[in-house]
Amino acid sequence: NTVSLLAPATVANVVCGFDVLGFALHEPNDEMHLRLTDEPGVRIVNEDDFGLPTEPARNVAGAALLAMLRTAPEVAGVEVRIRKHIRPGSGIGSSAASAAGAVVGLNHLLGNRFTQAELVEFAMYGEEVASGVRHADNIAPAIYGGVTLIRSTTPAPDVVPLDAPPLFVTVVHPQIEVKTSDARQILKQQVPLRDAVRQWGNVGALVAGLLKHDYALIGRALEDVIVEPVRSILIPGFEQVKSGSRAAGALGGGISGSGPSLFMLSQHEATAQAVAKVMRTTYEQLGLDYYVYQTTIN
Ligand code: HSE
Repeated sequence: NTVSLLAPATVANVVCGFDVLGFALHEPNDEMHLRLTDEPGVRIVNEDDFGLPTEPARNVAGAALLAMLRTAPEVAGVEVRIRKHIRPGSGIGSSAASAAGAVVGLNHLLGNRFTQAELVEFAMYGEEVASGVRHADNIAPAIYGGVTLIRSTTPAPDVVPLDAPPLFVTVVHPQIEVKTSDARQILKQQVPLRDAVRQWGNVGALVAGLLKHDYALIGRALEDVIVEPVRSILIPGFEQVKSGSRAAGALGGGISGSGPSLFMLSQHEATAQAVAKVMRTTYEQLGLDYYVYQTTIN
């Protein structure tokens, strides 16, 4: 009655698909170990010193597990040990990885009685603790893998897994703090119709480009006229990374989730390496510490 698993980092929004598109990365991953206990309730053991809460109701994995345990009265308790390699606050789904990994692990211990869509619903309780919003665009890809479209989260998650061609993903995490709750608060609540038209044209085209393995269409569709113009101001180096990466041959990219990480998609590995160089140069010139991840869609 123990299980060990790796919970992946994820990129939410994928530029034009605010709150509805996301994909999972091969790296980084969080290591998680779960076991059923006779001691009632949820016990969280953080194996690093990121200062994450251990009180279950305030911990993203804990909140998700508490929601799941309410449906399994025959289970007394569960212990989860987490070693994080996805830095909290990086914008690559650190909280979602903990919540998703926790519910996938407990589901395994319970004989896989829940569907993936039901697991998304439980894990959203964790995301709510982290950012105050029950968005699923990190959780769904963490649970399903690959690229996912979340058509709706109400009344229940309607997740559409999407086929995609091979894509190289380069991520840079500059060491600045952007809280998801703050990055949501600054967004305008009204969208002019012409911007909405442009945006849903891009979302439809991005989904079609992925399904058709049409790299040029994917590149054209990686444009966000609603969220990026507001949020990019919070991220130093945004314009340099974006224009430099495009010049190096990247298909496109932008803010990962609510930032501060930026991601770029490339068709070829050599391009992804050139993009990583653009990212390093940008943050070295700005004198900011950063991490770069060279990976692919998982
Ligand atoms: N879709 C969410 C947002 C993702 O952009 O606020 C947060 O990681």
